[in-house]
Amino acid sequence: MRVLTVLCIGDIFGEPGRKALAHFLPRLRGELEVDLVVANVENAAAGFGITPALARGFLDGGVDVMTSGNHIWDRKEILEYIVKENLLLRPANYPVGTPGVGSIVVKAGAERVGVLNLQGRAFMPAIDCPFRRADEEVARLHGETPIIVVDMHGEATSEKQAMGWYLDGRVSAVVGTHSHVQTADERVLPGGTAFITDLGLTGPIDSVIGVEKSLALQRFLTGMPNRFEPAKGRTRLQGAVIRVDPAAGRAVAIERIQRDLP
Ligand SMILES: [Fe+2]
Repeated sequence: MRVLTVLCIGDIFGEPGRKALAHFLPRLRGELEVDLVVANVENAAAGFGITPALARGFLDGGVDVMTSGNHIWDRKEILEYIVKENLLLRPANYPVGTPGVGSIVVKAGAERVGVLNLQGRAFMPAIDCPFRRADEEVARLHGETPIIVVDMHGEATSEKQAMGWYLDGRVSAVVGTHSHVQTADERVLPGGTAFITDLGLTGPIDSVIGVEKSLALQRFLTGMPNRFEPAKGRTRLQGAVIRVDPAAGRAVAIERIQRDLP
């Protein structure tokens, strides 16, 4: 059996994250024999949102599908782009009528893969139920392919784990994003769904989840709003590689990825 290999990349944060991606993605694609790259890009523009130019750069640079979350609307210019370019997803459980799409089916080698983006509601903006929306989306995507990868963008580890169990046996993978801290709980669930609570951060290490630490500390110490900027210095890429039996759509393996820029 030739397995299908999906590389999922944790939230790309600002210029440091973009540099790490540009450095490592070409070699990871070869080294891991990757068929499809899914990356969360909602923090790519200086930590907040994404611009059309950056999105185009990711697609040119080897990312196949871009996922997002609560920061997707931070840059107003993305509104015009997202209605034309369905390879940039916004969470599928935004209310009906929201611009853009929350899922897509793309070609990966000889296979077709569905990618679904969801967003949690615990400690996050109140949008529609991700579980019920997942039911609808997964049923629809199954009409096209048995291989489905889900980016569950959420704050609470519990909600992301719950989604893993909810979709176990129905999708190939559920990967968490948003917390910018990679979790060490990757495994294939009993029904054949690869799961990790959070893919981690592609961005600056010596930071508070990507933000310059003095600015984050200032906000915690004073409670006053201030302008956040990406940290500088040591940078790494984090994510996970998932191997899928393409006929069954079930995962056979998941492995965490971490690469530090020299
Ligand atoms: Fe987020």
